[in-house]
Amino acid sequence: MVVPVKRYPPGYGVVEPVADYRPWDVDTAFRDIYHAVTAHTKVDIYRCYALWRYAAQTAALQGDLLEVGVWRGGSAAVLAAALRHFGVTDKTIYLADTFCGVVKAGPRDDYYKGGEHADASADTVHELFARLEIDHYRLLCGVFPDQTAHQIPAGTTFSFCHVDVDVYQSARDACDWVWPRLTPGGMVVYDDYGFYGCEGVTAAGNEEFARPDRIVTHNLNGQCVLVRISP
Ligand SMILES: C[S@@+](CC[C@H](N)C(=O)[O-])C[C@H]1O[C@@H](n2cnc3c(N)ncnc32)[C@H](O)[C@@H]1O
Repeated sequence: MVVPVKRYPPGYGVVEPVADYRPWDVDTAFRDIYHAVTAHTKVDIYRCYALWRYAAQTAALQGDLLEVGVWRGGSAAVLAAALRHFGVTDKTIYLADTFCGVVKAGPRDDYYKGGEHADASADTVHELFARLEIDHYRLLCGVFPDQTAHQIPAGTTFSFCHVDVDVYQSARDACDWVWPRLTPGGMVVYDDYGFYGCEGVTAAGNEEFARPDRIVTHNLNGQCVLVRISP
């Protein structure tokens, strides 16, 4: 069988770290939730495990959680399950999605044109969360932040935000909205940053490296990870 070889432009190619510590293989609490949500997520086990641990590490900080780009709810459920597993019951998880696919595609986005990933619904997310018996969440249906951020009570702060929106402008707008509301030590994680076809999010992530009030890491799962270091 001839396997077609994908041709990458310079700066792209499959990332193959040589490390061999694999805690996600033996963390049974994580594995249980990951296997419960695999049909509801496009986020692979490596990125889901990173989200699981980031949620745990920021759990003691003041503030709620936000995910922008929920699709069928899988990565959001991993975040919610992490809070439950580590005994955190006082945080709300705000879940924002258009439920009609990607929006705000523009000239920085080579692949996305708008409307992709429209095969999800609020009901699908509600059903998943009901099955997992997770109830400390609130769905925001529409373009975030433009159409739905006003549904979040004024004065709400955040300890963690996952931005999984595929294109530059939606990623930029989500991060810029949450940043002034992020508790020092809190994190923003961009999905999509390290992926061919998501050049707009790569551009948004690279802008973060020039900003003074954050530590930025490309974690080689393809996530761009921001930690707020000053008020
Ligand atoms: C790749 S999917 C998210 C995947 C999801 N996190 C998972 O666990 O598989 C991207 C989602 O972002 C949503 N989206 C993109 N831009 C948005 C915006 N500005 N506001 C709300 N949702 C947005 C799309 O509707 C789509 O469902």
